[in-house]
Amino acid sequence: MNNKIAVLASGKGSNLKAILEAVARGDCCAKVEVVICNKADAGALQIAKKAGVPHVYFINPKDYVGREAFDAACSQVIQDADCKLIVLAGYMRILSESFIQTFPQHIINIHPSLLPSFIGADAVGDALRYGVKVSGCTVHIVTKELDSGPILAQSCVPVLIEDDHASLHARIQEKEYEIYPDVIDKLIKDS
Ligand code: GRF
Repeated sequence: MNNKIAVLASGKGSNLKAILEAVARGDCCAKVEVVICNKADAGALQIAKKAGVPHVYFINPKDYVGREAFDAACSQVIQDADCKLIVLAGYMRILSESFIQTFPQHIINIHPSLLPSFIGADAVGDALRYGVKVSGCTVHIVTKELDSGPILAQSCVPVLIEDDHASLHARIQEKEYEIYPDVIDKLIKDS
């Protein structure tokens, strides 16, 4: 069983941290082999290095002419490291179709809403503005339609009257840290 995964992240990396912690506890059978960030200051880079992830890269989109070329560089790294599952964890870039086709059904994402509600970049803010009373997070397979692939897992949280963006996002993220490592574990065991 190939349990090597590549995690792509752009931000603070708390989902990456949760995955690494679940692996260390023995609750997730993945091996985080590659971490790629498209932002030099992404917290995920430090988290990955501290955890001893073998291949940790900042790949600068400015060094590539266009999305396809950048994604090709990422996919080369992932294939060289023999990763079979690609885990998007706060990765704030649209993937090219050719990248998605290179790893069909093997790219997953976590989104901070109960899809299909509130696709897009500010799902937490959109949920607050809409006034929903329940929100949550969704793990889904990545397809070429944004935030719209088959759903693998969801978890819900209440939206409280006093919530702001930070408090609601924090409540949702607590659920993310539970379901993402679980889904990864299951996908590897089922593969
Ligand atoms: C998460 O809320 C995730 O749902 C969304 O981006 C955020 C990433 O957070 N796609 P972090 O960088 O893992 O802390």
